Amino acid sequence: MSANKESWGSRVGLILAMAGNAVGLGNFLRFPVQAVQNGGGAFIIPYLVCFFVMGIPLLFIEWSMGRFGGKYGYHSTPFIVDTMGKSRFWKYIGVFGIWTNIAVAAYYCYIESWTLSYVFHSIIGTFSGLDQDGVSNFFGEYVSLGVSTLGVPYEPIVFYILCLLLNTWILSQGLASGVERVAKIGMPMLILFGAFLAFKGFTITAGENGAINDSSVGLNFLWTPNFDQLWSPTVWLAAAGQIFFTLSVGMGTVQCYASYVRAKDDVALNAMSAGWMNEFVEVVLGSSILIPISIGYLGIDRVTELVQSGGLGLGFRALPYLFYQWGDFLGAFSGVMWFGLLFFAGITSSLAMGTPWIGFLMDEFNWRRKPAAWSFGVVVFVLGMPTVLFFKYGVFDEYDHWAGTVSLVVFALLETILFSWVFGIRKGWQEIISGADIQVPNIYKFIIKFITPILLLWVFLGSLFTPKG
Ligand code: PHE
Repeated sequence: MSANKESWGSRVGLILAMAGNAVGLGNFLRFPVQAVQNGGGAFIIPYLVCFFVMGIPLLFIEWSMGRFGGKYGYHSTPFIVDTMGKSRFWKYIGVFGIWTNIAVAAYYCYIESWTLSYVFHSIIGTFSGLDQDGVSNFFGEYVSLGVSTLGVPYEPIVFYILCLLLNTWILSQGLASGVERVAKIGMPMLILFGAFLAFKGFTITAGENGAINDSSVGLNFLWTPNFDQLWSPTVWLAAAGQIFFTLSVGMGTVQCYASYVRAKDDVALNAMSAGWMNEFVEVVLGSSILIPISIGYLGIDRVTELVQSGGLGLGFRALPYLFYQWGDFLGAFSGVMWFGLLFFAGITSSLAMGTPWIGFLMDEFNWRRKPAAWSFGVVVFVLGMPTVLFFKYGVFDEYDHWAGTVSLVVFALLETILFSWVFGIRKGWQEIISGADIQVPNIYKFIIKFITPILLLWVFLGSLFTPKG
């Protein structure tokens, strides 16, 4: 039993923190691009299937595992899985989960630091007066570490450090007064900013402010289903990968947050509230900004080209320029909204990635929260510097593939086996439904025991044998 006796301040705070954990850069930059690349509107079919048969079961599993471990006073994945599996083996699996968090945090925080920097640059007007190539080149220079505004050399490194300091400082403030408080401010702001940008995205009219297409062209481009693609296994793997990444499952962050829920409290309804909130933000807001605005001003061909390089290209190379088509003031204002939104989305997720590490140091070595939080900052810094220094050489993509894709599936597969077969679905099911404020459909007992592990095994094998990219 560790000395860690914190808990969430309120139910709303818990749900917002958990939704903040899930809602991240993936919702705004990854989802729309995945959808475009994998069959447009047809992508939503495998995506929803994966949500129902893997996403929801994993949310139930992880939330109830977390609350279970919390009853024993544990707040980190190794201890939580150890109390369920009762063997060293499971504890090591939990430690593996912690490393996944650190590795994902290392590259994730780098993108998060760009958003911080781009808010700053939108405010000081860096993009004002630049043409499309100018804005795009700025990004190229930025990731080559060439940007040094106001005479600060290696500005991207400075922002990276700043971003880590901010994360670390918030984490060191504690659960309710750090993480929960940021989620309570960040999530509503994010939705507000998102609603504003989606409204702008929906009202683009060809011929106005230099737009070449109505917003409907972008929306059609994104949502027109290409049903042929439904037969392609890569599309299904992409859908599964997106579900994992967006719900933040398979890393232990959900367990660690849930371990601070009181023993008698509900987990089923909480899990659904946070999960569905993420889906709303992803499917509705995530598809109404990046693609419609880019297609409105750049046209389908150019956007198709940019989509090949992923959402980062579109979000950072194209949008800051496109916003200026709405005039100088709205250009800067929308830049602050867009990168501010990404920043809130990012930080509420990266804070979650720090929780398993901090919990472990507290559970295992009785560390206090503050030094544990600062050690997280230092480790992420060391592991993250290669992505910062060698971004151009694809180091970032390696991290994303191994930590952000393959490891999540491995961990999810193992925890499902632990939950359904080692701990046993009979007891596991009791954990899910005890204290539940909703009636969990019985079919999920069957799904969690048989369907989810089989599908996870298939996704794992698929992720090993499909080319990266
Ligand atoms: N869900 C976050 C996103 O969509 C990413 C994340 C993954 C956060 C794993 C925490 C753990 O961006």
